[in-house]
This record gives sequence, structure tokens and C-alpha cells, in this order.
Amino acid sequence: MAKHIRIFDTTLRDGEQAPGCSMNLDEKVRLARQLEALKVDIIEAGFAIASPGDAAAISAVSEALKSCTVASLSRSLEKDIDASWNALRKAVRPRIHTFIATSPIHMQYKLKMQPEDVLRQAAAMVAYARNLCPEIEFSAEDASRSSPEFLYRIFEAVIDAGATIINVPDTVGYTTPDEFEQLIRGIRENVPNIDKAVISVHCHNDLGLAVANSLAAVQAGAEQVECTVNGIGERAGNAALEELIMTLHTRRDLYDADFGIDTTQIAKTSRLISSITGVMVQPNKAIVGANAFAHESGIHQHGMLANSQTYEIMTPASIGLNRNFMVLGKHSGRHAFVERLKELGYTADKQTLDEVFAQFKELSDRKKTVTDRDLEALMDSRSTLIEPTYLLKQFVINSGSNMTATAAVKLTRDKKDIEDVSTGDGPVDAAFNAIERITGISFTLEEYVIHAVTAGKDAQGEVSVRVSHNGRTYKGRGVSTDVIGASIKAYLFAVNSMLYEESYEQ
Ligand code: KIV
Ligand code: ZN
Repeated sequence: MAKHIRIFDTTLRDGEQAPGCSMNLDEKVRLARQLEALKVDIIEAGFAIASPGDAAAISAVSEALKSCTVASLSRSLEKDIDASWNALRKAVRPRIHTFIATSPIHMQYKLKMQPEDVLRQAAAMVAYARNLCPEIEFSAEDASRSSPEFLYRIFEAVIDAGATIINVPDTVGYTTPDEFEQLIRGIRENVPNIDKAVISVHCHNDLGLAVANSLAAVQAGAEQVECTVNGIGERAGNAALEELIMTLHTRRDLYDADFGIDTTQIAKTSRLISSITGVMVQPNKAIVGANAFAHESGIHQHGMLANSQTYEIMTPASIGLNRNFMVLGKHSGRHAFVERLKELGYTADKQTLDEVFAQFKELSDRKKTVTDRDLEALMDSRSTLIEPTYLLKQFVINSGSNMTATAAVKLTRDKKDIEDVSTGDGPVDAAFNAIERITGISFTLEEYVIHAVTAGKDAQGEVSVRVSHNGRTYKGRGVSTDVIGASIKAYLFAVNSMLYEESYEQ
């Protein structure tokens, strides 16, 4: 019988640690819901002790999810474990994930502890956590640079203390597939009570081997794999969920492993993460890159026409591309629109539906056909903030090759219109300056990214911005067939995020 591999998604914890990938509470809940639709088994929602915002997000994710296990990370310290447990209380299936470093270099320089004390501390904290929470995972940080004999002993001790998942992280992305496979086999063969626990692996991608190492571990008997969508994470990132899953799917003949993931949700989840973080995947990224299914050369195209399997080892439809691509137009009614959103997995309150329907109508006036991708972009670009402080009412731009760009922008705040005019180095700069004059908030623009949602000259442009203010970073996104409009929306999104966070902290 095929072995079952559990997918532990840490996009909201390890993934969020990647530069530029931080998310606010609403974004985390939105992503967690999509990860549940993708059918991951476990969602690591954060590191509760790290900040009140992290704890609040874990709590909100715990409340929002219906079936997934929700995990919170904790060092092997009582205060961390208490913080995790408090944040997880509302989860249907809570899991405390506790870790301590086990490599000589980490024990000596970071923990300044003797190995025997590390072992005692790990077992004591697993027992402490087990008294609170029904499911405990223990990680031996930097396991791949630890002594295997020490790992056998510490894993035996934490399993005795109540851990039912033992995780073997390649924290610094140092190991290779052969070596890691041996390590996992060694653990299976030398930890006497290993039958009472699931072996998990957690690989980083510093040498580009995270997915290969995770797959080698699966062949050696690992039954849980930790990963992130788009491979986001510390430094070079974590093992990419989509690559792992599509390898297990495409090479079932080799791995004989099954999993619960709904592969047709992969493309949508990948896009949602890019839209939320503003970090796009490179075009040649395996599985989810824009070119992953593009065939450019004539020989390949000829082969594909004769039989798609000549050059295609998996179909775009299997990751949810080209699926049931429904086209709506300006004559489509509200009912068809709402139904399509539901089919695409969006639930929204009446006010949101009214607003997005109005946007859809406006879009269908400008664009011949509105596709699923357009609808997803409209929904994903929305701020889920309860009440945005500023709304865009209208803008006028004057710009050309031999003139100074001018922007007149009108916003509403508390139902009152406020407008101002500014010049700038191009239309986007002028519009951002006008917003600054209205809001009194001066941002430094750290990053500005624009891309087309679909093909065609009438495509919507999706803009992501990253701005900073008083040492803090905020993100914004906006879509429109007018790229200046999309830019203004993205900038306003960042303004509203900042004001929302400030009000949240008061
Ligand atoms: O990379 C790592 O070692 C981790 C652990 C805390 C699981 O993220
Ligand atoms: Zn990690």
C-alpha cells in the first residue's frame, strides 16, 4: 500500500521570515483559508512568543480553520510554550511545535549549554507542553550538522516525554540527498521507540537541494514534510510545496506515496502569496513560474501538437491552470458573477460583493472579456481591512515627453472629498506626491513591481509597492486596466495598512 505523506506548511511562519514577505493578520487568515482549500495537513501559523502580532495571527487562524491542524512554534522554554498554547486554544486540532538546537556549534555558541543539559531541557519541555496540548512536535534544530548518536538519544527521550512527531531540520541547507537519506534511515533504525512517532523533515534551500533532500528523506521513511508555497523562507528559502507535491504526483512510480493535497489549488495559492507579499516568482520557477508550461521552440511545439506527452510530464490543468476558464462580459448579471466567485472559492459579505461587482462592471466596459484570473486579481488585491481610511474617488494625470508630469488626485475620508495636485518625476511619482500632500504621510518607496494579470493590450495591470515610514515597512497592491490607477490603489493600500496597524496598536 502507498505510504501517506503529511504536508506541514510553514509559509506563515518560516516563509514569513523571508525579507519582504511579512503579512498582516488579515493576510495571514486569508492565506490560511487558501492553504486549507489546498488541503495541507498542518499549518504552522507563527511563533507566538515572537510578538503580540504573531500570537494574534495564530489565534485568528486557529479560529478561522475548520479541519487543519494549526501549529505554533516555541523554543524549549515554558514561557514560549505557554504563549503558543494561549494562541492555539481555539484550534480544532492544536499542535505545539517546540525546538532546541542539537549541533555542537549551536549548543556551544548559541545556547551555551552542555549536550546533556540540552537533552534534559528538551524532554522536560516536551513533557510540559504535553500537559497542555494533545499533540507535540519536537525539532532538533541544525540536525543535519548534529551527531547522529546524540540525535538518537534526544529523539528517544522526547518521544518518551510525549512527542509524536520528531522533526529533522536541515536548518542551514547543508546536507545532500545521499547523506540525508542515511541520517533518516539511521534514526529509523536506532531510536528504539521510533514506532510511536512520525519522522518529519524540514529542509532549507541554501544549496538548492531542499526538495531533493526532502524527497530522499521520504524514500528513507519520513512521513511528514515541511515546506512553503513558492519556496519562500529564510535566506534561500524552504522546500517548495509545489515542487515536492508535483514530484510525488508525477513520479508515483518511484515514490509510491500519496498525499491529501488538491493539486488543482496550487497555481491559485502561489498567485495569492505573490499578490499578498508582492514577491513574484521567477518566470522559469518549476511548476508555478510563468514559463513552466510554455513551449517556445518549434520542435517542441510540433511534438506537443502531435502528442502533448512528448514534452509535457504533467498537465497545466493538474495545478489548476486553464481550469474551466469561464469568461464573463458586460452583459453578465450579478447572479452569474457571484456564482463564479463561489466556484473560485471566494466567500464574501454583501458589501464586498457589491463593491467587487461594481469593479467588475467597470472592468467589463474596458475589457472585452473578464476571465477567472481577472476576478481573482480583483478579489486578491482587495484590502481586507475592516474600514480603509482613504478611498480613491478620481484622478487626472497630465504627462508627456517634454513636460513635467502633474497629478490631481481626489480621495474620500469619512465621506468627505479631499483633493490636491502635485508634480513629479513621471505620472506615478506625481500621483504618489499628491497622495502624500493629502494624507500628510510621507513614505520612502522601497519597491515598485508591475505585471499584467492576463495577456492582451487591454489586460489589467497589477502593481505591488513596498514602502517604509519611521523604520517600518508596509505593502500595498492594486489592479486596474490603467496602470496609474493600479499604482495609486497600491499606494493607498499601503497608507491604509499603516493607519490600520497604528490604530490596532493603540
Ligand atoms: O530551520 C529550522 O531549523 C527551523 C526549525 C525551528 C524547525 O525552522
Ligand atoms: Zn526553518
